Amino acid sequence: RADTKAILLEINKAAAQYFYVQLLRPQGGHALTYLKDRKLSDDTIKAFGLGYSNKYSDDLYKYLKSKGYKDDMISQAGLISIDEKYGVHDKFWNRVMFPIMDVNSRVIGFGGRVMGDAKPKYLNSPETIIFDKSRNLYGLNRARKSRKPYFLLCEGYMDVISLHQAGFTNAVASLGTALTPGHAALIKRYVNEVYLTYDSDEAGTKAALRAGPILREVGITAKIIRMEPYKDPDEFIKNLGAEAFEERIQKARNGFMFSLEILERDYDMTSPEGRTDFMKEAARKLTEFDEEIERNNYIDAVAGAYHVGSEDLKKLVGRMAVQTG
Ligand code: GTP
Ligand code: MN
Ligand code: MN
Ligand code: MN
Ligand code: MN
Repeated sequence: RADTKAILLEINKAAAQYFYVQLLRPQGGHALTYLKDRKLSDDTIKAFGLGYSNKYSDDLYKYLKSKGYKDDMISQAGLISIDEKYGVHDKFWNRVMFPIMDVNSRVIGFGGRVMGDAKPKYLNSPETIIFDKSRNLYGLNRARKSRKPYFLLCEGYMDVISLHQAGFTNAVASLGTALTPGHAALIKRYVNEVYLTYDSDEAGTKAALRAGPILREVGITAKIIRMEPYKDPDEFIKNLGAEAFEERIQKARNGFMFSLEILERDYDMTSPEGRTDFMKEAARKLTEFDEEIERNNYIDAVAGAYHVGSEDLKKLVGRMAVQTG
């Protein structure tokens, strides 16, 4: 099994090199153009090892066979599909390839993006014995070398790459999955603070709200950076540039206060009843801070933001704590 792991890593490395070479050959021309249109430089493409998988082919399969790898291993690496009609063929067809590396820069899987509107937009390697999506983060191999005391946590591969290219080399992303406690523990090895910079749509907002408590659980402070009026950090940077992004970092909001702003949407904040019900729910959320000093700090912050007395709110939180046990 240790041997199998080593072989799978070798196969992935060979595949990444192969995809990179294809990108620079004539058949990869449209893929290179696609990346250039998305404003990626040659240096960035090289640094992230981006590549191209050929159309309708079993080229990678043949290449790996020619290097002496067995079907069983290539299949275990998740790089081929075996089907009745087409026989053995490459899993990734005509996609821009993003090698996914572990913290030691070893290739453990791939994400492949279509260049048009076909579905799925991204096809990812399956989880294998070397690729656990819940224990790896895209860009971590580079972000760990950043001297910043925090990470920028975003949704997509392109977000990470754009941010690094713009000088924000502390950006990482989860691999097309929601943030897990495993990710949080991994992040905690490097930083105590995370700035969440998820997409500005409903899904991204929800994901940010869910990520906050998962990070707090391992002692990481979460702040939220909003990307409006743009969809995500990649588009934000392309339109407004690095300086404007830096300003958003400075203006990042505390994750808990942000969650209350979102909660407001569920209440009629113009009526006394609505505001009272809102404060009760806010108080219930405040009970979730186990640390008394932290809880009291948040009680003061919430009381200030919503113009209620700190002592009154503290009593309400106490009653809520009894109720919810
Ligand atoms: P671009 O359109 O290339 O800018 O990608 P994006 O990162 O902005 O895409 P999006 O916000 O839709 O998705 C964020 C991340 O979710 C991607 O980077 C992928 O990791 C993952 N993802 C997106 N679409 C799919 C999909 O169709 N299948 C799977 N498995 N993952 C996806
Ligand atoms: Mn898993
Ligand atoms: Mn999205
Ligand atoms: Mn995007
Ligand atoms: Mn996006």
